[in-house]
Parts: sequence; structure tokens; C-alpha cells
Amino acid sequence: MSRVLYLIVCGSPAARNAHLLVALAQAGGWDVCVVATPDGRKFIDDSALAAQTGHPVRSVFKNPGDPDVLPDAHAMIVAPATVNTINKWSAGIADTLALGLLVEGQGRGLPIVAVPYTNTAMAAHPAFLESVGRLRGWGIAVLFGEEVVPLHAPGTVEAHIDDFPWQLALDALRERDNAGVPLR
Ligand SMILES: Cc1cc2nc3c(=O)[nH]c(=O)nc-3n(C[C@H](O)[C@H](O)[C@H](O)COP(=O)(O)O)c2cc1C
Repeated sequence: MSRVLYLIVCGSPAARNAHLLVALAQAGGWDVCVVATPDGRKFIDDSALAAQTGHPVRSVFKNPGDPDVLPDAHAMIVAPATVNTINKWSAGIADTLALGLLVEGQGRGLPIVAVPYTNTAMAAHPAFLESVGRLRGWGIAVLFGEEVVPLHAPGTVEAHIDDFPWQLALDALRERDNAGVPLR
């Protein structure tokens, strides 16, 4: 049985290329499910991702009594992770399905890799770097910095989305796997 990876995508144009991570992860033996934030959903082709993964793309909490439609996750990658989701996650807020899964996944000790993606101005808000530091301090692999993906100027995101480091996210997950972080 393949292990299950949740790819959580947020509201950035970089989410448009989520299919690249799906393909890389599937080649590595993962059964991938895509979960989008409500704003992330605006940037993705959910039918194409559902066809590629064999699972529906989810973005809202189910209604009481509805069945689970996705298998349980063994690991999560949140990429691209917006400033908004990073800040809310670090505060333990769970008001989107994506955040609920992250907050719960962290509490369950799942390996989680996050790749924040934003512009120089949004990254300059002091709460953002604090949130990155808090998440790292709690054992989340947050890939952020010039060596991972340089920040772009406000209003230029479209010109940079092809540089998004999907492979690094998967490499970081593999490192945690090899280091013995349990995949529950
Ligand atoms: C065209 C467009 C591009 C955006 N790109 C980014 C981005 O790359 N990074 C980011 O942090 N926010 C970006 N935003 C802002 C987020 O979409 C916004 O903060 C949203 O509330 C994020 O919701 P989420 O964290 O639930 O996905 C962008 C917004 C728009 C309209």
C-alpha cells in the first residue's frame, strides 16, 4: 500500500503548477491527495488534479454526517504556503480545511514540510518571520530563504512561478523520512 501525502496549496499563482509536485511525489511512490484553501482553489485546475491523483480536491470542511472521501495522511507538504496561512497556522487557527488538517497533523506528529512563497513586502511583516521561526521551533520543516526561493517584488509573481522549488519540498520530506521521523 502506498503511503498517503496531502499536498496543501494556498492562494498564490504558484499553486497553478501543483501538478508538478504531484507527479514527482507519485514517482516516489506516494499516493497524493490535493487539498486547497478556498483562495488556493482559484489558481488550480481541480478537475485535472483529481484526474491525476485519483482523489477529489477538497477545500472545505465536510458537513456533519458526510463520509471521509480521502484516505488518512502519513505526511503533508504545504506549498505554496501563503503568508496568511503561515501566520494562522502558527497561531493554531483552523478556519479552513487546509489549516484544520495542518493543525491536527502537527498535533499527531506527522512529518510536515512547508514552502512559504510571497513577495518582499509581505515577507517584511514582522509577524511572518516570527511565524516561520515558531513553526520551525515546533519541528516543521519550513523551507524559506534566498537559497530556497528568492523573494520577488510585489506585483511580479507571475514571472517567477516557474522557479518554485517543488523538488526541494519532496527532498525535505525524504530527509525527514530517512532521519526516522515516523510516518504514522
Ligand atoms: C493574484 C494574487 C496573487 C497572490 N499571491 C500571493 C503569494 O504569492 N503569496 C502570498 O502569501 N499571498 C498571495 N496572495 C494573497 C493571498 O491569496 C491572500 O492573502 C489569501 O487570503 C490567502 O488565503 P489562504 O492562505 O487561505 O490561501 C495573492 C493574491 C492574489 C489576488
